[in-house]
Amino acid sequence: MRKRSLYSVFIAAIVAVGAFSIYAWHPSMAPITPPVKDQFAADVIAQGKVLAAAGYCSTCHTTPGGSPYAGNYEMHTDFGIIYSSNITPDVQTGIGNWSEEAFIRAMRTGVSRDGHHLLPAFPYEHFNKMTDEDIKAVYAYIMSSVPAVSQQKIDNGIPFPLNIRFLQSGWKLLFADTTPFKPQADESAEWNRGAYLAQGVAHCGACHTPRNALGGEKRDQMYSGAAIDGWIAPSLTTSSKAPLKWRAADFDEYLRTGNSSFHGSAAGPMAPVVHAGLSALSDSDLKAISVYFGALAGNHNDNPASSPALKAALESQQLPDPRIDNGARLYAISCQSCHYSSNELNKGRPLLALGSALHLDDPTNLINVTLDGFRANQGITGVVMPAFRDALSDEDITAIATYLRQSAGEQPWPNLKQKVAEIRLQPRFEH
Ligand code: HEC
Ligand code: HEC
Ligand code: HEC
Repeated sequence: MRKRSLYSVFIAAIVAVGAFSIYAWHPSMAPITPPVKDQFAADVIAQGKVLAAAGYCSTCHTTPGGSPYAGNYEMHTDFGIIYSSNITPDVQTGIGNWSEEAFIRAMRTGVSRDGHHLLPAFPYEHFNKMTDEDIKAVYAYIMSSVPAVSQQKIDNGIPFPLNIRFLQSGWKLLFADTTPFKPQADESAEWNRGAYLAQGVAHCGACHTPRNALGGEKRDQMYSGAAIDGWIAPSLTTSSKAPLKWRAADFDEYLRTGNSSFHGSAAGPMAPVVHAGLSALSDSDLKAISVYFGALAGNHNDNPASSPALKAALESQQLPDPRIDNGARLYAISCQSCHYSSNELNKGRPLLALGSALHLDDPTNLINVTLDGFRANQGITGVVMPAFRDALSDEDITAIATYLRQSAGEQPWPNLKQKVAEIRLQPRFEH
């Protein structure tokens, strides 16, 4: 009897493995002769160029200073280092011999032309929400307009057994959301356009949605904030810690200019999202994305100028006695010349107490900005903040951050000094 049941477990296991293999297996798709430019209509290529920008393809597929789209951009994940692929139309090392069908399959299901599974560091779960027409436009743009570059992909530094590509299909089965975009009938056309762009090509959730231990997005906590590339992508929903509620108008200003007067500026990985990505979209598309997030953040529309939170933030800029508070003294020396106290907002000089960096549970964003400042292509274009990496010690930054946190009315961050020391030693990535 016992033997029999063991036997049936064994058979069941074989059937399950067999069924899984059939599910997991994807055929190779035949290589094609590279398409020529005249095959594509000019307006389709132009549309593809906009969508490729809005999907940050070149941010992830180009190394700093390297050839556009030639890959090997390093992504540091909890599972190891992942290198992006060469997606220039080079036949040997790129996607030059990929048919449109093979490209659509990769964008929708994360399967390469030869049938191997791709890692979700490539956000196919979001690109899957794009229409066929939009994916074909991206294909037309890449095949017709990106110069072919020969560059072999570096093997990912992912340890065994996670590096077994076949297992990715199990991951997909468990976590991937490959359902198409569903417009919501009870929302406006503008909201739906914004949702389509945000969930699909612009994949805001890939950074702003928290992930489970195996890297799957927690879809019941969409956009509620997550750690990404050594930064914190703050919550964009009603759980946002920003003292002033984000309104659709604030999202619109931030996504168009890299700064919201009532919140702050886009640093780190958010800077290229704004300046290398969303800037290609039309004003009406950006407005649609803002309407969508304005709704997710609670549809606030109060005038922030008369809000008590703004008054409190302006008052918080009044310094305690710098003779007794070392953090206040260092702030006065190093920061206040730009982030000065005043009774009004100054565009381009963010009122720090309003920025989420001071209000998040994690001090990472404040430490990052203090260490590395803002380059001209981050935040407001052309406006810079110096890097204090070489000027301020870990103790100094800890004192300033403690002072700022306290003046913003928040509890002190635990283990702050250790955190500053750790972040200082982290490798920096170009964003
Ligand atoms: C967040 C980073 C990221 C973004 C954004 C991104 N990719 Fe990728 N992509 C990757 C990584 C990493 C891989 C390789 C994954 C692997 O090794 O399994 C990849 C692989 C691919 C592949 C498979 C190539 C092959 O040879 O198998 C295609 C096609 C592709 N990306 C196209 C695009 C397009 C088109 C866009 C923009 C619409 C884009 N990617 C945006 C990270 C990204
Ligand atoms: C590559 C990762 C990434 C992607 C993709 C991304 N974000 Fe961000 N986002 C971040 C990070 C990191 C920050 C924090 C930057 C900072 O502190 O300056 C941020 C900050 C923001 C903020 C400011 C929030 C606050 O309270 O300060 C807004 C608003 C925002 N993102 C909206 C979006 C929208 C809308 C999209 C999609 C169109 C998007 N993000 C896509 C990483 C990302
Ligand atoms: C020379 C002027 C200058 C100095 C000095 C300066 N900053 Fe800044 N800071 C800026 C500017 C300008 C921005 C916005 C950059 C942009 O949008 O391009 C900024 C942005 C920030 C932000 C992001 C605000 C947000 O929420 O988006 C933080 C945090 C910050 N500064 C902290 C500091 C700290 C801490 C110091 C002192 C150690 C300091 N700054 C010194 C000019 C300065």
